[in-house]
Amino acid sequence: MRMKDLQVKIKTLLREKNAILLVHYYQRPEIQDIADFLGDSLALSIEAAKTDADMIVFAGVRFMAESASILSPNKTVLLPREEAGCPLADMITVDELEAIKKQYPDAAVVTYVNSSAEIKAHSDICCTSANAVTVVNSLTDAEKVLMIPDGNLARYTSLHTDKVIIPWSGYCPVHHFVTPEEVSAVKSRYPEALFAAHPECAPEVLKIADFVGSTGGIIRFARETSVGQIIVGTESGIMHQLQKENPDKTFIPVSDKLICHDMKYITLKDIFDSLTEVKYVVKVPDNIRIAANKALNRMLEVSLLWGCSGKRVNNVIGEV
Ligand code: 13P
Ligand code: SF4
Repeated sequence: MRMKDLQVKIKTLLREKNAILLVHYYQRPEIQDIADFLGDSLALSIEAAKTDADMIVFAGVRFMAESASILSPNKTVLLPREEAGCPLADMITVDELEAIKKQYPDAAVVTYVNSSAEIKAHSDICCTSANAVTVVNSLTDAEKVLMIPDGNLARYTSLHTDKVIIPWSGYCPVHHFVTPEEVSAVKSRYPEALFAAHPECAPEVLKIADFVGSTGGIIRFARETSVGQIIVGTESGIMHQLQKENPDKTFIPVSDKLICHDMKYITLKDIFDSLTEVKYVVKVPDNIRIAANKALNRMLEVSLLWGCSGKRVNNVIGEV
């Protein structure tokens, strides 16, 4: 089937089933183009919490679909490919978390949404890359904060708070291995360009960035800057939206290794099959969901005061 025909069929099925297609910026371009809502983790969580659709099809990875199920327990949440996970989310277990909590009994636990539902359930509050600093600074009663599972996000946050941050040792295998040498090599080819990086990159890379932010933050930065060349320090999927929104600007990937294979599992055909066969349902059991919901909702309350990033996309099929 032609790509365009498949896109039209998916849009029709979404309408028939009163379903909404939520898409992360790292997804394949042809999926981003038919999103009902395209955004970063924070914007997608907010959308999942407030949608009145009966069904949420999540084009992202498992922790995102789990968050949607936690926030909207009465809706059917579908992840079109079961194996789409996040290696960073698997870098801490509940036993490890409980052990470190014992070591720092007076520390608050701030958990990056790139984590399992069970880990969220053992946390005080969640954060995303868009609001980590705001979330940490909102904890007026805590002087010490355990930030899990991403050590780089924790170290970046520690530069913007007076609190003592205790980082966990997890990392994103896509962002962590970008090197300052790679940045310098691209900068020498594009001396006028600005460098925008995701906070999952290592501290020595963030130190030489002109802008650090979530995927939604990078999209906004690219839109607002008057500079015409931007070196991009995050996953390759974001290039599609950057180029689409800014046809007169040049976006240069800092490395050709910035590809998250988990984010690339889902194809248009998987979304079509997911809608026709109602698979794969992601449902978080209530014994985990209720505590995880508390941590996620606490984050959303802080974020709603502060704002978020994302883009509502027109549903008209002619614009695909
Ligand atoms: P965002 O919070 O920018 O959406 O990032 C999610 C992610 O998985 C980054 O690797
Ligand atoms: Fe996880 Fe990294 Fe992929 Fe994001 S880019 S989903 S943090 S592995």
